[in-house]
Amino acid sequence: MPTFVVKNREGIETRLSAQTGISLMENIRDLDASVDAICGGLCSCATCHVFIEPDWAERLPGRSPEETMLLENSDSFDSERSRLSCQILVTNELDGLRLEVAPSEF
Ligand code: FES
Repeated sequence: MPTFVVKNREGIETRLSAQTGISLMENIRDLDASVDAICGGLCSCATCHVFIEPDWAERLPGRSPEETMLLENSDSFDSERSRLSCQILVTNELDGLRLEVAPSEF
């Protein structure tokens, strides 16, 4: 079971034992001050935006054109670190991942 460190919107870090075979968004959305994920993972809202530490960002599969378009429209887009957490499938290879929930744009 991979373990992640998640910094929420209040700057509080939580160590999380993640479930594999589901998305990163599904693993973190129930944490306090975490992602909203209002489209439920359909890659159409960008409210599951997170920042992945640069070392990890390079080890993840690349963004799809749809993910890139949504992220580039975000006020807090960071070309190196931004990802939509609903588009990242959790596997054991992600053990040790560190991420931060992006600011809310509501
Ligand atoms: S949950 Fe809507 S884009 Fe990820």
